Amino acid sequence: MTSKNIVVTIDGPAGAGKSSVARDVARRLGLSYLDTGALYRALAYTLDKRGIPPEEGEPLSSSLRSLSVALVSGKVLVDGVDVTDLIRNPLVDSLASRYSALPSVRARLLDIQREQALGGGLVADGRDMGTVVFPLAPLKVFLTASEEIRAERRLNELLSKGQADVSFSSVLEDIKARDRSDRERPCSPLREAPDSVKIDSSSMTVVQVVERIVSLAEGARSDE
Ligand code: DC
Repeated sequence: MTSKNIVVTIDGPAGAGKSSVARDVARRLGLSYLDTGALYRALAYTLDKRGIPPEEGEPLSSSLRSLSVALVSGKVLVDGVDVTDLIRNPLVDSLASRYSALPSVRARLLDIQREQALGGGLVADGRDMGTVVFPLAPLKVFLTASEEIRAERRLNELLSKGQADVSFSSVLEDIKARDRSDRERPCSPLREAPDSVKIDSSSMTVVQVVERIVSLAEGARSDE
């Protein structure tokens, strides 16, 4: 890995702004962006569609063995089908949270995520990027914000996509439930890596968070 090709990990709870920030940081640093939530969402969406329940067992194992999951030019393909536009809604939020707690689902996606770093550096966002997937990353960020701020951002995002049947209280409940499930699952729970830099974005703009991470990354690059 050259000093240019560093891996930057950004973990944190739902709605902390990880994907907007990670995408911009990647662009600024000339690295690719790995949206691991999209992989979990795509897999959960497909398994649910095929009637595979979110529990360990033969139906899940054999589906995971036969399914192909690929990231191609920012699109997520499952068995060659582009599901990118079908996985950003409250139903898939909750499906992804349930399926992603299963060890066999996490194991299936581990190599796919690591392979993305073979072609060069990247900025990866998720829940276990710094703790499990890229434990040697030279820069790990834990991005968070208060529950209320995260719910407000998520609500605005859903409204801007034309989703009218959502309220602040339902989004807040959903955020709390996903936090609980992501933090309390035994396999790869959401945790702050001990060597991560914590950024609370509650009163920061996306641009401010991006500036901070870019400057940390420039520092990490010159130390490599
Ligand atoms: O980041 P997101 O909201 O798109 O993630 C969707 C779900 O996938 C979330 O509930 C947790 C799970 N996830 C995970 O467990 N590990 C990751 N690296 C990324 C997402």
